[in-house]
Amino acid sequence: MKKSILFFTFSICVAVAFAQPKKLGNETEAQKQERMAWWTNDRFGMFIHWGLYALPARHEWVKRNEKLTNEQYQKYFDNFNPDLYDPKEWARKAKEAGMKYAVLTTKHHEGFCLFDSKYTDYKATQTPIGRDLIKEFVDAFRAEGLKIGFYYSLIDWHHPHFTIDSRHPQAPSDPKQYAELNKGRDMGKYREYMRNQVRELLTNYGKIDILWLDFSYPGENGKGNEDWDSKNLLKLIRELQPGILVDDRLDLKDYEDGWDFTTPEQYKVSKWPEVNGKKAAWETCQTFSGSWGYYRDEFTWKDTKQLLVLLIESVSKGGNLLLNVGPTARGLFDERANSALQAMGEWMKYNDRSIYGCTQAPEEYEVPEQSILTYNPKTNRLYIHLIDYPLQNFNLPNYKGKVKYAQFLHDASEIKITQRYGHGMKEGESANNLNLSLPVRKPNVEIPVIELVLE
Ligand code: GLC
Repeated sequence: MKKSILFFTFSICVAVAFAQPKKLGNETEAQKQERMAWWTNDRFGMFIHWGLYALPARHEWVKRNEKLTNEQYQKYFDNFNPDLYDPKEWARKAKEAGMKYAVLTTKHHEGFCLFDSKYTDYKATQTPIGRDLIKEFVDAFRAEGLKIGFYYSLIDWHHPHFTIDSRHPQAPSDPKQYAELNKGRDMGKYREYMRNQVRELLTNYGKIDILWLDFSYPGENGKGNEDWDSKNLLKLIRELQPGILVDDRLDLKDYEDGWDFTTPEQYKVSKWPEVNGKKAAWETCQTFSGSWGYYRDEFTWKDTKQLLVLLIESVSKGGNLLLNVGPTARGLFDERANSALQAMGEWMKYNDRSIYGCTQAPEEYEVPEQSILTYNPKTNRLYIHLIDYPLQNFNLPNYKGKVKYAQFLHDASEIKITQRYGHGMKEGESANNLNLSLPVRKPNVEIPVIELVLE
């Protein structure tokens, strides 16, 4: 009897120990939230994919897609001369769109570095432009008050010691050939190179707010945390920049502190994403069109409403949006990106109160028809985004007793709250509902927002 109790207790202890997610460091949950507070508040950032692939202008994976060798790719290096690059203008555009931070590719999978690295000649300073483009970016964006993020590709299709794997431009069709192809390649040397470059990026440019590492694909002929030595890399990152935020692509998802936020890419999440059974900090990264790098002949551009819905929906599920621009090889934003940014900025100018500092609404507030809710816990205000502008009488189910005042956000004009009876009541409408009396004509705002001051 005693024995079985002992065994039972022991099993429980083992189960609890195993159920605890593993940790690499000792930061508490509260400390983590504090470290991430600016990011959780700001909600909206700009991703920038820029590199040699802007010249072929047909996807940042062109080297892989067309199986190009280093020699075949060399012409883009030789001709890289973005003479119109003016990061001050980029920063101004990001800021005017309502974005609060920016993440630029310091090196993408092609291996080309926009920064002046001691460890390679495959960098902007050796091309006709001859400048450290990252330094200029950092100075310009910081001057506009935007937070600074570096994207750094774990993958490198140029480095001689990066072993050829299933995603590599020179991946063989017959898997038996990997060993032969990788003779003489030493991932240890590549890991060293990567560490050195991460150290450069995190020491030479002042305070860096985000490091966006990309990406892992563990499994046969893939690469994961052991290939990158992710644990030690992350340790180095946190040593060099204790306040930095790191994405979740190091393949350390099993560790509670092996990442700061998760990164659903190019799709809308259906609910607040969970990792290891817990709601996670998250940021969706999205393109205006089908490619991250500048793609001249790609025309599937999202319209303003789609882009705004993406932003609003992300906030309504507790997340951020990182929206991508792929500048041209002259160093300019594409005119289509410019007009999309401008249109978003126009909306943000009047409605950003429903985005910054906001999150998912408490469950007690039902989502009214054709709308999306966000909520600011500090000000206790609820925002109803009218995705399809409704008819005059707009029903708020079970909101009675919860609302002090209602107004449009864009012009602070009052919206009358009424209580409806008898034949004025819709099917299913109850005495606990409130009715908002909206103007028949939709205000001249892409997505009008109602601000409710709650009791
Ligand atoms: C993918 C792609 C890459 C892009 C990234 C952005 O991982 O490989 O081209 O930079 O997504 O999230």
